[in-house]
Parts: sequence; structure tokens; C-alpha cells
Amino acid sequence: MSKKILLSGVKPTGRPHIGNYFGAMKQFADLQNDYECYFMIADYHALNHIQNANDMKENIFGVALDYLAIGLDPEKVTIFKQSDVSAHTELAWMFDSITTMPYLMRAHAFKDAEAKNKEISVGTFNYPMLMAADILLYDTDVVPVGQDQKQHIEITRDTAEKFNHTFGADVFKLPNPLIVEGVATVPGIDGQKMSKSYNNTIPLFATDEEIEKQVMSIVTDSSGGRPENVYAIHKLFRAEAELASLYEEKKGKYKDLKEALIEDIKAFIAPLRARREALAADPSAVERILVDGAARANIRASAKLADAKRAIGVL
Ligand code: AMP
Ligand code: TRP
Repeated sequence: MSKKILLSGVKPTGRPHIGNYFGAMKQFADLQNDYECYFMIADYHALNHIQNANDMKENIFGVALDYLAIGLDPEKVTIFKQSDVSAHTELAWMFDSITTMPYLMRAHAFKDAEAKNKEISVGTFNYPMLMAADILLYDTDVVPVGQDQKQHIEITRDTAEKFNHTFGADVFKLPNPLIVEGVATVPGIDGQKMSKSYNNTIPLFATDEEIEKQVMSIVTDSSGGRPENVYAIHKLFRAEAELASLYEEKKGKYKDLKEALIEDIKAFIAPLRARREALAADPSAVERILVDGAARANIRASAKLADAKRAIGVL
């Protein structure tokens, strides 16, 4: 029996943080043997933020390294750049044509930008259509993501149904999100959702100094009990049963608890960081993985795009 299909993506917009890792990327590595996997570097999605060629290049290489450093095995999974598979943008155009503006105006990302009176790009407005294409081109069954992407998967399902219904053809399969409870929204050092834009992150490949600085900056209240923001991050790295005795013993001693957390994070990150550094030393090996991944992704994507073209009557 052939395996079910898993696809996910990360935007090359800078360094990943432990929220990206526990919320999504860890699942990529954990599930790579159970599914036929496609892991994308969503460079065209990142173009809405990254508008400098050198930064884009560096960030793309960075996500490829991140994927490999967390243990994705390019022999087993397909790692590719979105821009290498032109079917994504072509299919997104078809979706644009069957989707209304009021429907897309209900997207959280759009509403948040509106609320902040930001002038958003057409690409940002359209973001969910490209993401729907990313997913639907591969007959994807599951999409491991953090909670913030849930609505995008719902839009993807709606779009698949709309297309199938409009053209009376069963072209697209409806995917399901895979959102892991407990890590769906990892909090940052201020207790809000961990996010690059809130400046509250602990980078996944942080140096020891960065780990110390960020943990020491975790916001604590002075209620005397358990420092919740410290604990919420600590439980990502150590079982809660083990933490119970530590937090009881060190009750109210926030500095000691932060130091314990620092040690746990350092022990976790050090081998990942070393692996990433080793991989970075051979850029041509990374390049070969992406070329190979693009070839594999293109086979599947172009077949599905042809189905869609036939359904709409251009082929
Ligand atoms: P991005 O870097 O925006 O492409 O995000 C990569 C993945 O990380 C997506 O699946 C997000 O849902 C997930 N993610 C981002 N921030 C968090 C967070 N604070 N907690 C859990 N998952 C997150
Ligand atoms: N929108 C996702 C994010 O911001 C990245 C992404 C792009 C993605 N295309 C995707 C995730 C397809 C899953 C599937 O994190």
C-alpha cells in the first residue's frame, strides 16, 4: 500500500525559533518515515517580506540547512524550493479566478493588517491562494503546522471544493491540518505567542550567549509561585513529571529556575547547532539536494497541474 502524503513549508524570512520547531518542524522529522513527505522552502511567500536578492539567497540556504539539521533525510523526503516548481504560481492563478475578494478579506492575516492600517501587498492578500496551490498539487493528506496556519488549511479545503464543484471534476483532495496539542502556540519570553515580529524568540540554533540572554529576559511576575512564562518554555525540554519536583524545590527562586532552563536548552541546542554548522560547510551538497528535490516535486506537481488545466478547458 502506498503511503499517505505529507506536505509542509517554512518561509525563508530569517532564523527559525523554538516555536517553529516544536509547533511544526519537529513533527516533520518525527513523521518522515510514516508518510511520503514534501518539505518546501516557501520563497515566493517570503517575497512579500524579503525584497533583497542577497537576503533571499541566504535565507533560502538557511531553511535548507535548518531542515537537514533537524534530521530530515533527503534520501527519504523531498526538500524543494517553491519557486523551482512553477505549477504552484500557475495553479494559484486559477484559484484567484474562482475566489472572491470578500472571501479572502475574512482571512486573519488580512484582517490583522487592516486593523493596523497597514498597506498590504497584493501578494499578501493572495497568500492563501498560493498556499492552497502548494498543498493541493501533491494530493496532500496531512499538513503539520502551528495553530496560526489553521485558517489557511481551511481556506485550502474550501478552495479544493470550490474548484471541484465549479468544474464538475474530482481534481483535488481535501487535506487535514496536523496541529499538536500543547505546542500549537508556543509562547515567547514575554508570554505572548513566540514570533519574530514580537521580538520575543529563542532561536532554534541560538548560541549559548543568546540562550542565556533570552532566558534571563523571560518576564516573571512576583506572585511568589511558579514563574509561568519560564515553566511554559521549560516543559518543551523536560517532562512535566520531572519539572514538578524541581519547581517545588525551587519555589519562588526564579533565578535558579531560569538557570536550570538555560542548561536544558543549551544541552538540546548544542548538537543541532553543531550539525547545522557542519552542513553549512558544504553548500554544493545542499544545492544538489534542492535540485534533486525540485525534479521530484515537479513530476507530481506537473501531473496535477495538467489535470487542473484539463478541468478548466485550456488543455
Ligand atoms: P513560518 O516561519 O511563518 O513559515 O512558520 C513555520 C511554522 O512554524 C508554521 O507551521 C507555523 O504555524 C509555526 N509556528 C510559528 N510560530 C509558532 C509558535 N509560536 N508556536 C507554534 N508554532 C509556530
Ligand atoms: N504559510 C506558512 C507559514 O507562514 C508557510 C507555508 C507556505 C506553508 N506554504 C505552505 C505551510 C504549505 C504548510 C503548507 O508558516
